[in-house]
Amino acid sequence: MTRIALVTGGTRGIGAAIAKALADAGHQVIATYQGNDEAASAFSRDTGIPARKWDVTDFDACQSEVAAIEQEFGGIDVLVNNAGITRDGMLHKMGIDDWEAVIQTNLTSAFNMTRAVINGMRDRGFGRIIQISSINGQKGQMGQANYAAAKAGLIGFTKSVAQENARKGVTANVIAPGYVGTDMVAAVPENVLEKIIGQIPVSRLGQVEEIGAAVVYLAGDAAGFVTGSTLSINGGQYMS
Ligand code: CAA
Repeated sequence: MTRIALVTGGTRGIGAAIAKALADAGHQVIATYQGNDEAASAFSRDTGIPARKWDVTDFDACQSEVAAIEQEFGGIDVLVNNAGITRDGMLHKMGIDDWEAVIQTNLTSAFNMTRAVINGMRDRGFGRIIQISSINGQKGQMGQANYAAAKAGLIGFTKSVAQENARKGVTANVIAPGYVGTDMVAAVPENVLEKIIGQIPVSRLGQVEEIGAAVVYLAGDAAGFVTGSTLSINGGQYMS
């Protein structure tokens, strides 16, 4: 039986690696993206994974786009809420726009998407909801009051969803990656990134494939007893 997996922000960075890993593990994967048409076309051309474009901060768009995908491919069995942005800046200089953009994109989107798939998962008696949080949601990070708040919020959200849906065969878990070699991390100023890598016991950035492999595990039957957990994948930078 082929399971259907939806990965938000799934055409670049960690999301693309997750989408590919799920496809390699035998899932029918659909990736979403918001802005970068060129990257999405290249991703779909290279992988054969379809990409759908909409804004995951838009509640109504999430409901209608998920309904259309379910019509075409079947009920979504695995949802990976990966879409995320940064708008880094010290709190004393941060504007409300940077706060709201990050909360909407990184936290409200998880509500919008989970709400769109949850009833189908409950009805079918199987579901896997996987949130991509961050080390910085666990430990806080200077310059990321908005991002850390959103990523920490995902953990409480997930523990609640896990409790509500366990009896229906639906698990909900969080992966908290550390600093992984993506465009997002490449945007950190070089002198700051050097300091960060100095704080990682494994002495390197993570690789996107290391996150994809963990998602495949949590999405599978073998992880049916794992719910409400947060899996840190951070090279030992923070041990919670
Ligand atoms: N670790 C250690 N030191 C840090 C730091 C960090 N993450 N971020 C900032 N600093 C230090 C700077 O090195 C600097 O120290 P010195 O004065 O000793 O040189 C001091 O804090 C002030 O920093 P800036 O001079 O850069 O101040 P700014 O106002 O120009 O910029 C900033 C502030 C926007 C926060 C900038 O420092 C920055 O972008 N920092 C990186 C923040 C970060 O870690 N973002 C993570 C992005 S990746 C991601 O989010 C993925 C994920 O989930 C892990």
